[in-house]
Amino acid sequence: MSQSATASHHGAAPAVPANASATGPLKGRVRVPGDKSVSHRALIFGALAIGETRISGLLEGEDVLNTAKACAALGAQVERVGDGAWRVNGVGIGGLRTPDAPLDFGNSGTGARLMMGMVAGNPITATFDGDASLRRRPMKRILDPLAMMGVQVVEAAEGGRLPVTLKGPRDLAPIAYESPVASAQIKSAVLLAGLGAPGETSVTEKEASRDHTERMLTHFGAEVRVEPFGTHGRRVTLRGRPELKPAPIHVPADPSSAAFPLVAALVVPGSDVIIEGVMMNPLRTGLLTTLREMGGDIEVLDERTEGGESVGDLRVRGSALRGVEVPPERAPSMIDEYPVLAVAASFAQGTTRMRGLSELRVKESDRLAAVADGLGVNGVTYFIEGDDLIVEGIGRVAGGGLVATHMDHRIAMSFLVMGLAAEKQVAIDDITFVATSFPAFVPLMRGLGAGIEVA
Ligand code: S3P
Repeated sequence: MSQSATASHHGAAPAVPANASATGPLKGRVRVPGDKSVSHRALIFGALAIGETRISGLLEGEDVLNTAKACAALGAQVERVGDGAWRVNGVGIGGLRTPDAPLDFGNSGTGARLMMGMVAGNPITATFDGDASLRRRPMKRILDPLAMMGVQVVEAAEGGRLPVTLKGPRDLAPIAYESPVASAQIKSAVLLAGLGAPGETSVTEKEASRDHTERMLTHFGAEVRVEPFGTHGRRVTLRGRPELKPAPIHVPADPSSAAFPLVAALVVPGSDVIIEGVMMNPLRTGLLTTLREMGGDIEVLDERTEGGESVGDLRVRGSALRGVEVPPERAPSMIDEYPVLAVAASFAQGTTRMRGLSELRVKESDRLAAVADGLGVNGVTYFIEGDDLIVEGIGRVAGGGLVATHMDHRIAMSFLVMGLAAEKQVAIDDITFVATSFPAFVPLMRGLGAGIEVA
């Protein structure tokens, strides 16, 4: 790693090691932070609407704070008015101004990719940048459809990576885009760009990815049509150039963050934990389905609707898990949960085969490799066959390993969860990136009785 590149680049913080070890059963009631996907979108849509959007429950993690700063740099008024309470005064579609400096998205692929789409429909030039992890991630998947719509890629690093400078045309062309990957980030970037184009812009996916953008477009008054496509896919069509009207947003608790106390409660014997108000959007609940198939004792209590999303309180008890096969078409609904599912599978009896994980290779780290290494150093038997990860569970995990987290919050949290039930302590090289999505992870887990130490 080039030291000067990272040090001068947002003054990367020094690594902070941490470890977790088995203590007693986990007990208690917790609420995890607001959903990351909904939080990014709340700020972005607020910035595109004319007038004031009020947000409650916003995730105040680094990724979302970077999106807030970028919205402000493009001319929106973004103000924190209380714990998770924010107000955004937007400038309207086509009303963004040229930012004075490069937009820095830190570790966040969602922030960078969605805001490339957001900027596309404005005749301005903006540079997008991020940390060393984000600079390694593929951006061509966004640049290609945006170029089809008329956006000029003024500059990009090798392979279409960040830093990227985009120039929006005077007149953006609508497209009918067939996305090569089921990715809500690609879909959302094209739809956000489509807001600035006349006529209809559509995105077709072979498997349905999370639909928060479509829901929020409708919530803000845009005309959106969603149709089934093939067996598992969808086509989303948006009528361009609507006037977005501010609408209040309540951000429900993030199922991808809930996954950590959830799996911890399942694998630590005798645990009994309630996780409150977790978003139950069916395009996000693949992990719940899978853990229940594995024999996980998870009850959904008081399922209700909050802010247009269904939410529920999850009651989770320590369970003897068994291995299962996870079908590839389930991947979009649990794409961020495979690292912690691999941890659950390590404690299960029997083989868990997770199929179709190619997208894991392009997340905050190469998660397939990072998970495999973490399993290996802790004595878990695994195989990688093509894009499948196979974990051979024997009902217990030796532990004792030091896991390399590769600037990836979910690798860090997953292996700390492993340490809570392993025979020996599990250490991670760096916990700092947990602040991107779940700043209070350590105190929240400790409140349940977890033995986590931070150096
Ligand atoms: C996200 C979509 C997913 C997910 C990411 C958040 C979003 O990425 O991994 O954490 O908010 O749209 P892909 O859509 O690229 O799979």
